[in-house]
Amino acid sequence: MIAAITSRIGKAQPMTDSSRRSHWDNVYTTRHEKDVSWYQDRATPSLDLIALTSLPTDAEIIDIGGGASRLVDNLLGANFKRLTVLDLSAAALGAARQRLGAHAASVKWVVADVTAWQPLQSYDLWHDRAALHFLTDGADQSAYVERMKQALKPAGFAIIGTFAPDGPERCSGLPIVRYDPSDLAATLGQEFELIDARRHQHVTPRGAVQRFQFSTFRRH
Ligand SMILES: C[S@@+](CC[C@H](N)C(=O)[O-])C[C@H]1O[C@@H](n2cnc3c(N)ncnc32)[C@H](O)[C@@H]1O
Repeated sequence: MIAAITSRIGKAQPMTDSSRRSHWDNVYTTRHEKDVSWYQDRATPSLDLIALTSLPTDAEIIDIGGGASRLVDNLLGANFKRLTVLDLSAAALGAARQRLGAHAASVKWVVADVTAWQPLQSYDLWHDRAALHFLTDGADQSAYVERMKQALKPAGFAIIGTFAPDGPERCSGLPIVRYDPSDLAATLGQEFELIDARRHQHVTPRGAVQRFQFSTFRRH
């Protein structure tokens, strides 16, 4: 009896689109940009990994689950011109747009859940820091990979950062999936070749260390 109850309450239900959205809108409306654990002044190691692809500054780049990240500011500063930021939280994108002021007009902003999004164009580079790892349900992970296949050009790059196997078990109070590069390659499937993998230690604004892995894939 006790075992039956434990197994029923112990099994986490996948988050619905609206519960995800309200969680993240609440985070971005109640917390200052610099008070969230994932805040960075400069998007490391993402910028170095993007530079390693040698993509030109007119490459189409999308930041999946970009939130209020400064990656977009950093890429505009490096003269990249064709940038899209996708996030399911309108509040997150609103904060980034407000910070960028007039520069925001040169960026495409997409409010969508990546698992249900219908891409309207294709991209040379797909970047994701700490969004995929919130998808704990296999069907959501498969939907994410399908969107990646629809959106990424042949020979396009995908740079995906997640908590590493020795990283935290939760992020923003939610359960996450920790990956090593080979787990991630297995999740993405054979269409994506792993070309670079590295570990990264993120120091949160409160001084805690979070262990990430960042993997770069090239689409066949
Ligand atoms: C930990 S934050 C990271 C934000 C940003 N990538 C950064 O590095 O600062 C995770 C982000 O993923 C977004 N997110 C979570 N699940 C998502 C989904 N299914 N579709 C789109 N965005 C999602 C959240 O709204 C949030 O902005």
